[in-house]
Amino acid sequence: MSIEAKTVDESRVETVHIVRPNHLNGANRLFGGILMQWIDEVAGIVAKRHSMCNVTTASVDNLTFLQGAYQNEMVVIKGKMTWVGSSSMEVCVDTYVENHLGARNRINNAHFMMVALDENDRPVKVPRLILQTEDEHLAWAHGEERRRIRIQRKKDKLDGI
Ligand SMILES: CC(C)(COP(=O)(O)OP(=O)(O)OC[C@H]1O[C@@H](n2cnc3c(N)ncnc32)[C@H](O)[C@@H]1OP(=O)(O)O)[C@@H](O)C(=O)NCCC(=O)NCCS
Repeated sequence: MSIEAKTVDESRVETVHIVRPNHLNGANRLFGGILMQWIDEVAGIVAKRHSMCNVTTASVDNLTFLQGAYQNEMVVIKGKMTWVGSSSMEVCVDTYVENHLGARNRINNAHFMMVALDENDRPVKVPRLILQTEDEHLAWAHGEERRRIRIQRKKDKLDGI
């Protein structure tokens, strides 16, 4: 039996990494490519939990590096579903550095568009998103606006603009 709708909490993900020497770039900060891999994985797990399907990353936007992270720091990555279309899902991923007292400083934010795929690798319908809080309604409204922009951007790319 297929599930028709799921809450945001049902697919929420939080992961934690310690910044090791092999994660650093030449400037001794966390290498952006490593962080991108970690956040892409989080977005993928959120989307898999919501859709219960294989998923792929269609696009990433608003990927903003606000601050660096350094060796031995604890990096916390939180992903949540913000908007759902027919086969596409928007996942918001926030990254924080957490200090010894548990205080978190946000260092990165990104929005991933994930698409659920069937066994033939074609887009497949996903459950609706049940919005339970004011914040979730607000995030949905912003997601609608971002979708409008993304559709235009994809059209421009296909047109070679
Ligand atoms: C993502 C992909 C499956 C979409 O396939 P497609 O043939 O364009 O399918 P559709 O046009 O039916 O789009 C399917 C959904 O994805 C959305 N979508 C497609 N491209 C998108 C993009 N660039 N940005 C945001 N959403 C996108 C569509 O709006 C649609 O959403 P909806 O079903 O909720 O209405 C296909 O482009 C693909 O496989 N891309 C490569 C993905 C990949 O390999 N990622 C890993 C990178 S290493």
